[in-house]
Amino acid sequence: MKTMFWEDNQLKLINQTKLPDEVSYFNCLTYQDVILAIKTMIVRGAPAIGVAAAFGIALADLAGENLELAAQEIKNARPTAINLFWAVDRVMASNSPLDEAKEMYREDIETNMAIGKYGLTVIDENDTILTHCNAGALACVDYGTALGVIRAAHEKGKNINVICDETRPLGQGARLSIWEMQEENIPVKLIVDSAAGYLMQQGQIDKVIIGADRIAKGGVANKIGSLMVALAAKRFNVPFYVAAPKSTFDTKISIYDVEIEERNSEEVLYYGQCRITSEKTKVINPAFDIVPSDLITGIITENGIIKPL
Ligand code: MRU
Repeated sequence: MKTMFWEDNQLKLINQTKLPDEVSYFNCLTYQDVILAIKTMIVRGAPAIGVAAAFGIALADLAGENLELAAQEIKNARPTAINLFWAVDRVMASNSPLDEAKEMYREDIETNMAIGKYGLTVIDENDTILTHCNAGALACVDYGTALGVIRAAHEKGKNINVICDETRPLGQGARLSIWEMQEENIPVKLIVDSAAGYLMQQGQIDKVIIGADRIAKGGVANKIGSLMVALAAKRFNVPFYVAAPKSTFDTKISIYDVEIEERNSEEVLYYGQCRITSEKTKVINPAFDIVPSDLITGIITENGIIKPL
């Protein structure tokens, strides 16, 4: 199942806010629909928002709209994942936005399969692998980056177990990664985010693999909570890998210059529909954090495994 597809001049997105209870689609007829989908996390994950943005430009082009304006508005949808900016710039530089978007869609799957192939080499028989957030098929067009490595290991017949952090506040681990693993019959268990350190201390985690929203000089920006996992992994000598395509690299800047998205308070005040604290509670809700390079064992890309920048 693909996270998105192009049909009848529309971009059709699996509505990830409804998973795992309901598999339904959100149809984008205009580039403004794509912006709404990105902002509200109907589509999320760095490579997925990049490809969706590319189709957003294609929709604007088909409607004869001002492409420069559309490009700027789409880039403003979310600030941290560089794939969004990379994709918009690439489509804008092409002669045919729709053809370019379709090419990026195709490449995304190929790239993730290559990441899986290289990532496979760090997975041992009987490994228990911890992952954070969802860097799976749902965060891409298909197959996934971190979960792509896990998929590749499973497809090769390796006996592996997966542990997913629930990933508060929006539960991408609990709702999305668990669902993907269950669909593939990959053995998986859910933990609350704060259990990761304890499990590593107990020797119950062999590897950590996460995705990335941006890789720059000095480290990796990824879902909030990644830093705490990386710190615990270093303390307990658990190898910590990041799996990401080259389109997630921003080689010229320092990771500390990347804008970290701050999302709305409701995400923290509520768990699903249920308010978990008093109405007047003030909230800090950064969506991402920064894992410094010295905590990262290696970055698994479509061209091989490299050292962090
Ligand atoms: O806020 P989200 O759900 O878009 O955050 C997603 C992540 O942090 C993923 O780990 C990252 O984008 C890599 S996806 C292959």
